[in-house]
Amino acid sequence: MTVSIPTQRIASSRVDEIDLENPDFDLGFGDMFSDHMFQMDYSDGAWRDPRIVPYGPFAIEPGALCLHYGQAVFEGLKAFRGEDGMIRVFRPDRNFSRLERSCQRLCIPTFDRETFLDAIDSLVRIDRNWIPSKRGQALYIRPLVVATESNLNVRPAREYRFFIMTSPVREYFTGGTVALKAERRYTRSAPGGMGYAKTAGNYAASLLPGSESQQLGHDQVLWLDGLEHRYVEEVGQMNIFFKIDGKVLTPDLHGTILPGVTRESVIDILRDEGVAVEECRIDINDILKAHENGSLEEAFGAGTAAVIAPVGCIRIDDTDITINHAEPGPLAQHLYQRIVDIQRGACDDQFGWNRLIE
Ligand code: COI
Repeated sequence: MTVSIPTQRIASSRVDEIDLENPDFDLGFGDMFSDHMFQMDYSDGAWRDPRIVPYGPFAIEPGALCLHYGQAVFEGLKAFRGEDGMIRVFRPDRNFSRLERSCQRLCIPTFDRETFLDAIDSLVRIDRNWIPSKRGQALYIRPLVVATESNLNVRPAREYRFFIMTSPVREYFTGGTVALKAERRYTRSAPGGMGYAKTAGNYAASLLPGSESQQLGHDQVLWLDGLEHRYVEEVGQMNIFFKIDGKVLTPDLHGTILPGVTRESVIDILRDEGVAVEECRIDINDILKAHENGSLEEAFGAGTAAVIAPVGCIRIDDTDITINHAEPGPLAQHLYQRIVDIQRGACDDQFGWNRLIE
């Protein structure tokens, strides 16, 4: 049941500044934010004062601990306006569970699931005019928790802000396929580290390797494990899947990989459809071998922002491997259609993944 959150409405909506119905209007990804945001603060040992306010800057002290020592976690999920006009949020309960685990890893106090879900319901409802209806577009929901206490000791903060903003978006990758570079030098995460947490520092660590690989003409880094730089982990903005000899493989979660909600959904869909799928260690050298012997049929990424992003080529050391002639493969296309259909209410939500917003 949704509780009523104290709300300060914006005087005049900005939604008319964008043309959501115009197919030529490029929303971009995260380039604009809708009218309102949710906020709630933690102090004296309790979360307090949940509220919805107009989107806009807020003040934190220069000494705020999140700015110095990176005590910040976030989430990403989407709301859709379906073919039937209904509004659906995709699996927000899974994002809450992950946010809880991220908070625990960074010593951030958690709050209850209902608070998270009510905040999202209320925010999506108040900014429903910002939800695009075009297939491929959505209202991206970005919750964050950051340490706001002003202090320079390296210790968990005693004050935090939890806030949620939303942004109408297109999909993250727009080309037909993405080109990856297997990263043998830099490391995203290591055993015992923070790889499974959705924390700002993991993304900061990816910027230099990402821009170096882009200078060489690749779209993204394919992260390998931090010990041997040999076993495939993830792409940073998405999890990775390979189809080899009829079987779908994805790296198993062992603490260094972000447990993606789309990753989980892909596995569930494949198992439901009777497709063999295995979560396991994947040696990058075996990907090369599978390419050489012709058994590497497809590779694709899966993520909230990316949805399903087919991989067209991978640079492994000095070798460029091209997958499915650098075209989106049939499995990736099928999974994309299936997931988007579920999210937009265009087919039966057999797994009960959608949260309907009245
Ligand atoms: C998401 O897919 O929601 C993500 O958080 C990736 C984002 C960093 C672009």
